[in-house]
Amino acid sequence: MKPSALEAALDAIPKVELHCHIEGTLRPETFVELARRHGIALPTTNLDELYRYDSLDGFLRIFWLGQSTLATRADWARLAYESVVDGAAHGVVYRESFFTPARHLVAGQDLADLVAGLDEGLTAGEAETGARYQLIADMDRAFGPAAGLEFIDALVELRRAGARGIERIIGVGMDSTELGIDPVTFQPAYDRARSGGFRLTAHQGENSAAAAINAALDVLRVERIDHGLPVLHDPELVTRMAAERIPITVCPTSNVLISNSFARLEDHPYPQMRAAGLLATVNTDDPAFINLDLGAEYAAVASAFRWGWLEMVDVALDVSRRPGSTSPTRPASAAGSMRRPRGSTQVNEAPAGRNPVPGAEGHGPNDRIGITARGPHP
Ligand code: ADE
Ligand code: ZN
Repeated sequence: MKPSALEAALDAIPKVELHCHIEGTLRPETFVELARRHGIALPTTNLDELYRYDSLDGFLRIFWLGQSTLATRADWARLAYESVVDGAAHGVVYRESFFTPARHLVAGQDLADLVAGLDEGLTAGEAETGARYQLIADMDRAFGPAAGLEFIDALVELRRAGARGIERIIGVGMDSTELGIDPVTFQPAYDRARSGGFRLTAHQGENSAAAAINAALDVLRVERIDHGLPVLHDPELVTRMAAERIPITVCPTSNVLISNSFARLEDHPYPQMRAAGLLATVNTDDPAFINLDLGAEYAAVASAFRWGWLEMVDVALDVSRRPGSTSPTRPASAAGSMRRPRGSTQVNEAPAGRNPVPGAEGHGPNDRIGITARGPHP
């Protein structure tokens, strides 16, 4: 079916994405081809059936299988290249992509090699599309806090050694299952990442309560929250996150199809999150696994909540709004038009000497595309 004018415009508008797993952009065709090459058995090679699940943990089993097909540096490079090209086809001009290599490291892959592969593919994709990518290295909760700390130590060492691609890794996070896992147990890893110069985020509240979000903010001292679904259950948390402009990277369709948190997109609390003044951005999470792209996600959000062009432009701008600028469509009290705290910095602040984003140059030091963090980086 031909896209409507709004769908076409939402696909074309330049967009920033802050919550997307690079392994979650693995094309099904690439998945099957790599599995065959590396002798990995798949439950089916029917591409329509490969990506099927009915819970977060069910999804994760297929996601992990997809990850396991990334066996060589060339595989990581191919994944990264295809990720950039596929994102650019739907308006992604800047993305902070997660990668979660816990099982690869256990299987004996070399972290430096893997990061170099990602850098190789991202560089090729950037050259072809003009998009710009940075990376967030995620700990996999399922492997436990000790493996997390070991991973962070290895990243810090790569930084010290000036390894290829390490400058792309601007932050550290964690993902995977939340069931029965206390985020506080990852405090040593987060402390190490902070002292090693990495920015901090965490998946929290995809499958856990608001108390876990508070713990991530207070104990792990993360600068943004990935998912954050139960935030509205805690009015004090809402007030704090809105006032401090702590970003929540929301993945509405993923929350329906992957975590099965809502029966329909229309039931998602995203409009209430925005109405409460939260800096809640729109993201795809694992687009290839749910037949999604960022343009389609914007269109789905517009359709589900009966929002038009102006509301969606406001969503797109909020993720990259200049500190202190005002929203064309929202009241002055809204998150998108609030001033960030004095001395605060942006999560994607580029290392010295590098331009952060094509198109973002030349507007002054505070005009970088990216999200607002809570406070000065130590
Ligand atoms: N890893 C990839 N996608 C994920 C998700 N939706 N939740 C947790 N971990 C993930
Ligand atoms: Zn995610």
